Amino acid sequence: MAVLVTGGAGYIGSHAVAALLEKGEEVVVVDNLQQGHREAVTGGRLYEGDLRDEELLDRIFRENEIDAVIHFAANSLVGESMKLPGKYYHNNVYGTLCLLEAMNRAGVKRIVFSSTAATYGEPESVPIRESDRTEPTNAYGETKLAMEKMIRWFETAHEFRYVSLRYFNAAGAHESGKIGEDHDPETHLIPIVLQTALGQRPHISVFGEDYPTEDGSCVRDYIHVSDLADAHILAVERLRRGEASAVYNLGNGHGFSVKQVIDIARRVTGREIPAVIEPRRSGDPAVLIASSEKARAELGWNPHRSDLEAIIASAWAWHQSRPQGYRG
Ligand code: UFG
Repeated sequence: MAVLVTGGAGYIGSHAVAALLEKGEEVVVVDNLQQGHREAVTGGRLYEGDLRDEELLDRIFRENEIDAVIHFAANSLVGESMKLPGKYYHNNVYGTLCLLEAMNRAGVKRIVFSSTAATYGEPESVPIRESDRTEPTNAYGETKLAMEKMIRWFETAHEFRYVSLRYFNAAGAHESGKIGEDHDPETHLIPIVLQTALGQRPHISVFGEDYPTEDGSCVRDYIHVSDLADAHILAVERLRRGEASAVYNLGNGHGFSVKQVIDIARRVTGREIPAVIEPRRSGDPAVLIASSEKARAELGWNPHRSDLEAIIASAWAWHQSRPQGYRG
């Protein structure tokens, strides 16, 4: 049986594909390659196309023996979602509806869903637990929450089983050096810091120094992308065992401020990395730290690439070997 990975040419999706292949799984990828990169798909069968193309989805399910889907395909930029919410509802929410309906037609009812800490919005307490209030502060998080809820209704009506994985801040690159993070435009902290280290940017902007945190900059929970990838495999195995649907946070449970990340990157790269303080970026919560106790206890998830210095070093190796990303 094969696992269908939607968005498998993207940053986190491509690392999940690599992990599945390492496990000996048969992999089918569908990706419209708007954000993804053909070269990031290191094996399996790639269909280039969009989830909103129902004929394509039916063909994929017809041509392959798929028993589970891992659903990454979505737009994921918080800032862009505030300017173009329609794009997010169309691609993320309607795209997911098309996928679920095609799965239902094909009788494939196991889905692992790529969700996000952005579903919580401003946390009511830290570390964040899965049972905490979900009140997204941006359209991106709102669409991811809507997708989670839609999957739940397909469970009620059509006996789907799901695992929703709410990621905190994905970072780092695969140990092979063959795949890593390459977004266009890049908006994430660690790749921008490393592009600055490479001299591709004059400085890193620190968005806000007046948050109620120790050094005034935002605190995030950075998790290695290959640890995230491992959780998807455990989630597929859980569904194959017929266990109940569940939602899990995925993070390390440790927070690092923007300024701490820059300092660690200076140590890792041995470069100066000039930083400039700028105003806050809209929609940024001050502190996002996960409690991942539930994933450890129930999924048996054991992230073992937790050291932020090592995470940044793995990203640095990728950026040094591919300074222009997949275009280089
Ligand atoms: N930051 C800067 N300068 C930059 C870029 C980012 O100071 O040039 C700051 C941000 O303001 C934020 C922190 O660095 O405080 C991390 O920002 P990222 O853009 O790297 O990540 P976010 O925490 O905003 O968002 C990420 C994912 C989202 C996901 C969210 C959940 O991009 O998809 O984590 O925690 F929803």
